[in-house]
Amino acid sequence: MRAEKLFGLLGYPIGHSLSPVMQNDQFSNQGLPFFYHAFNVPTENLKEAVEGFKALGISGFNVTVPHKIEVMKYLDEVDEEAQIIGAVNTVVNQNDKWIGYNTDGRGYVESLLNKTGDTLKDSNILVIGAGGAARAVVTALSFEGVRHLAITNRTYSKAESLKERVPHHSNISVLTTEEAEKETPAYDIIINTTSVGMSPETDKTPWRTDNLKENCLCSDLIYNPLKTKWLAEAESNGADTLNGVGMFVGQGAFAFYKWTGVWPDLNRMNDVVMQHLG
Ligand code: ATR
Repeated sequence: MRAEKLFGLLGYPIGHSLSPVMQNDQFSNQGLPFFYHAFNVPTENLKEAVEGFKALGISGFNVTVPHKIEVMKYLDEVDEEAQIIGAVNTVVNQNDKWIGYNTDGRGYVESLLNKTGDTLKDSNILVIGAGGAARAVVTALSFEGVRHLAITNRTYSKAESLKERVPHHSNISVLTTEEAEKETPAYDIIINTTSVGMSPETDKTPWRTDNLKENCLCSDLIYNPLKTKWLAEAESNGADTLNGVGMFVGQGAFAFYKWTGVWPDLNRMNDVVMQHLG
């Protein structure tokens, strides 16, 4: 079948990405004659790669590490949420106007909403970390209207800066590690946005699990490994858990929607990803 629209992914290194298999499966499942391809583009070639996409008139693309910040320079517009996050992972060609979005945080919140079946508005949430992933998650949670949100980070000043980035942040508190540790039994949801526990350092855990609130949900953005040591410990202490697969699928789902105007089959996207991870 001839592809009528082309979508891309810019990253470096790109070899392990599951986005092509996930998006192409969804295009064919929806009967859309579109094709998605991952391009391995080192930093020094990013500008030329984006110009090449523009010259070719491709319909949209995703952006991943290490280009999410740099790519903003080459776009015509960056939407409000992506500006607050300070990074773009999805670009849409709207009549030759190149618009950047960030679907990482939305994708994460979607997976959290699906897991809890709740609005999250009254949940007391602790976010561990204050890097790029935390910016996406905290911004999206605040857009979702979450009222009780605390951030803690090894480097306290970065957590303070993150709070300042988010509009209407009066409901966000910044805690030292010691303060947050003491407060642990008060949280309904604890989210690890740091890389602690990620392969190959799978023996590390980002947070204590011996004083969790009953029915606490421990959520790790990591999906390699699928179950981090932290999530395993949390489970053995009675907590419910959520890994990072839903965030990956969710960011892809919102990108797909922005490109096609069609909401994809989330369960199918999840199954495709799990077939390759499992
Ligand atoms: P990402 O884009 O994946 O979020 P990042 O922007 O480099 O990556 O942020 C990494 C986050 O993990 C930061 O919050 C970092 O804490 P610092 O701000 O103190 O550096 C946190 N992090 C990384 N390694 C850590 C470790 N060993 N212990 C605690 N926090 C760690």
